[in-house]
Amino acid sequence: MSGPLVVARSVNVVFGSGGGMVHAVKDASLSVSAGEAIGIVGESGSGKSTFARVLAGLQRPTSGEVLFSNESIYTKGKAYRGDKRREVQMVFQDPYGSLNPRITALSAVSEAVKLYNPGSRNDAQEQSLALLARMGVSEKDSRKKPRQLSGGQRQRVSVARALSANPSVLLADEPTSAIDQSAQAQLLNLFRGLLGDGLSIVLVSHDLGVIRYLTSRVYVLKSGVFVEEGPTGEVFDNPQHEYTHTLINSIPGRHVADRT
Ligand SMILES: Nc1ncnc2c1ncn2[C@@H]1O[C@H](COP(=O)(O)OP(=O)(O)O)[C@@H](O)[C@H]1O
Ligand SMILES: [Mg+2]
Repeated sequence: MSGPLVVARSVNVVFGSGGGMVHAVKDASLSVSAGEAIGIVGESGSGKSTFARVLAGLQRPTSGEVLFSNESIYTKGKAYRGDKRREVQMVFQDPYGSLNPRITALSAVSEAVKLYNPGSRNDAQEQSLALLARMGVSEKDSRKKPRQLSGGQRQRVSVARALSANPSVLLADEPTSAIDQSAQAQLLNLFRGLLGDGLSIVLVSHDLGVIRYLTSRVYVLKSGVFVEEGPTGEVFDNPQHEYTHTLINSIPGRHVADRT
């Protein structure tokens, strides 16, 4: 495996100013290698989503930098332009927010296929159906609108849409939080398959079971600071930081193996 694909160096994010100031991410550094799955865990409000948005180029850090293949993700003030555009794709907790309610799953994926593969207009539909099938969405369900699909199906449509860019890195922010346990297991197994195909995954979750199932390395975020980082099994079995210890003992999902 080559060097890291994505590197964050000393990232700070400060929202607001004066008395309303929130220092959401503090001096956070991280690296993701090709084909690697890393986890980011922490309690609600610890800065996980903010940091994920920084990696995705959706939130400009107040200071610090994010590199993709050793180059800043910013070109003339804009994130992931040109060749980098397709490389990092994000899926969110609530796919309702990212799927247009008025168009079918197939149209949503086809739109993205055409956007990222301009040469593919004619077989965009075929490619989209293949991506959806890979995510376990049948042709029949592909022709439904988001509200006619289950939460798990919607989430898998969002992933299919993200994959249409043929990214190197998939950033998933609490992708399993809004879906039931069998849908969670199905999604995690699909993520495992994607990892096997060489994709890198950054999985943000407050569910340690989900993190344990999928990731090989984990970063523990507390009030915007990475307080601990290491191989997931080691960190969870032998936490070095008091906060990690408390998380492990207070957060549900410690027995994900039972459900997957
Ligand atoms: N756009 C924003 N403006 C102001 N404060 C924000 C904004 N986004 C997040 N925050 C604050 O930053 C902190 C971290 O939030 P977030 O990254 O959503 O945490 P998490 O995803 O771990 O729950 C919280 O205190 C939150 O209120
Ligand atoms: Mg969040």
